[in-house]
Amino acid sequence: MIPESFIQDLLARIDIVGVVESYVPLRKAGANYSACCPFHSEKTPSFTVSPSKQFYHCFGCGAHGSAIGFVMQYSGLGFIDAVEELAGRAGMQVPREASFNRRVEDAARKAPLTELMARAMKFYRDQLKTSPKAIDYLKARGLTGEIAARFALGYAPDDWQGLEKVFPNYNDDALVECGLIIVNEQGRRYDRFRDRVMFPIIDQKGNVIGFGGRVIGAGEPKYLNSPETPLFQKGHEVYGMPQARKSIHGEDRVIVVEGYMDVVGLAQSGVENAVATLGTAATGTNVQKLLRQASRVVFCFDRDAAGDKAAWRAMEVSLEFLVDNKSVEILQMPGNQDPDEFVREHGREAFITQLNNATKLSEFLVRGLRERTKPYTAEGRARLIHEAKPLLQKVAAPVLRVQLTKAIAELAQLSQAEVEVQCELRPLTRSRPAPFAPRNRTSPRSIEHALLEIVLQKPEWSLRLPLELIAADQPEGAAIHAVADAMDHGELHGGGGMGLLLEFFRGHPQEALVSSLAAQLTMEEPDAASLEAVLNDAQGKLRQGSLRREIDVLTARAREGTLSPEERRRLAELLARKGG
Ligand code: UTP
Ligand code: MN
Repeated sequence: MIPESFIQDLLARIDIVGVVESYVPLRKAGANYSACCPFHSEKTPSFTVSPSKQFYHCFGCGAHGSAIGFVMQYSGLGFIDAVEELAGRAGMQVPREASFNRRVEDAARKAPLTELMARAMKFYRDQLKTSPKAIDYLKARGLTGEIAARFALGYAPDDWQGLEKVFPNYNDDALVECGLIIVNEQGRRYDRFRDRVMFPIIDQKGNVIGFGGRVIGAGEPKYLNSPETPLFQKGHEVYGMPQARKSIHGEDRVIVVEGYMDVVGLAQSGVENAVATLGTAATGTNVQKLLRQASRVVFCFDRDAAGDKAAWRAMEVSLEFLVDNKSVEILQMPGNQDPDEFVREHGREAFITQLNNATKLSEFLVRGLRERTKPYTAEGRARLIHEAKPLLQKVAAPVLRVQLTKAIAELAQLSQAEVEVQCELRPLTRSRPAPFAPRNRTSPRSIEHALLEIVLQKPEWSLRLPLELIAADQPEGAAIHAVADAMDHGELHGGGGMGLLLEFFRGHPQEALVSSLAAQLTMEEPDAASLEAVLNDAQGKLRQGSLRREIDVLTARAREGTLSPEERRRLAELLARKGG
């Protein structure tokens, strides 16, 4: 955990304009800066950075956030890594707790290995240039030099100690540790990769963490991969992310394929938003990371027994990471083709059509369960419930779970409630309304909503609000209370801008709400006079609303005849106030 105060200090020290500028050239436009958005493809700039709010926003694709958010989104780094990166620039030391020390030690241990991998990649790339055999192979597979360069493809020469040319100290154990060379039982050392086309696996930071090497033509194994090393854990990484990142954000969709050549072949045909799992089934970590990058994740599988099994497995691991506004889809390739073969034969458009017709995870699940359990007899229906149970239990997305439960109930000839009981589903959490704050709002823009918009622009005004009238068990209200509390305790200060507030809400239950509101606000400086007017208006409405709700509750109780004498007096007083 990084202390909140450090984040606030960090954001106060760095300037978002400088941070964004270091990745994307900016042009001054009035009080703000603008650029063509790095997160989607566009010709006219709709990406804006506000120095006063320390906030960036794209009117085209809706991307927005603080300097930390920008680094996360641009480089695909996690929160902690992004903070580290920015702290490094600001010359600040991130305060570390126990788990942090380990990370630092890890990083220190990894740095020299990363350097070796980079040198190996350069060597393999140079070797490709002088190997007609490898060049011809890649050409025969339809790849241009441009794509080969984009994926930094290389060639490991047919030589037992080829790497000696770049690593004079061939006995360096670090070369073994990073998987480039192997020591046999007699203690002899030799290159792991020989006479293979090399696919470097590059992480989000641009570091080479592993390689896949393909035999040229036929041979076993077809692909040889780096072993698990301190740099490389197969289940955590995907192939092709740095090359796909921009297109993934632009399309808001990521395609997950099974092979290196699928990624490269798709890119060659103009489908750039594909990544590959690394010779393993998709893992939960994969799914979680990918859902952070785009709202739609489409898994492509070959249409064979192995592919069907892998598709089912991908569905299983995806269930727990699904959220209602994101989707995971499964595409089972037609014919006996993998994506690379398909796109080369039928072209980009045909592939996109396939993608657009991919099966939604929920449909895939229900269809799969039906095929597996054959719910056409009582026994079959019992089997269905038995198999559905562990799957339904994983689903955390409330709307999706209801949909799935209903679909399964129908197949099982049970009611939704019966399925919920049989599958021991936890009730979906929904906080209960407070007595004086009914949640059935008539308009989506409640008063609390309007107030929260103000507070996001002027956090210091949160302290002027009639907080006692703002229910804290309702999302907007909770967010307002959180800001007011933090201002009160000096944990937040006014004038830090939207970026600071967004970081304040990171990990807070209202993070998503605040982030979506922030995206809707314009980049204009808030005009104090109009804010004040909204504030006054809202305060009045809030008081009236609270009055009215209290009257409603007391009146209803009066009808039931359960009012205490004191409550009766209170009701009379309220009615008089309302009348006057
Ligand atoms: P495939 O056998 O489907 O190969 O393996 P491919 O990607 O279509 O390759 P080409 O088109 O014949 O060149 C899919 C993935 O499984 C892993 C690799 O990651 C490969 O990209 N794999 C496959 C291995 O690790 N080792 C192997 O021997 C085969
Ligand atoms: Mn293939």
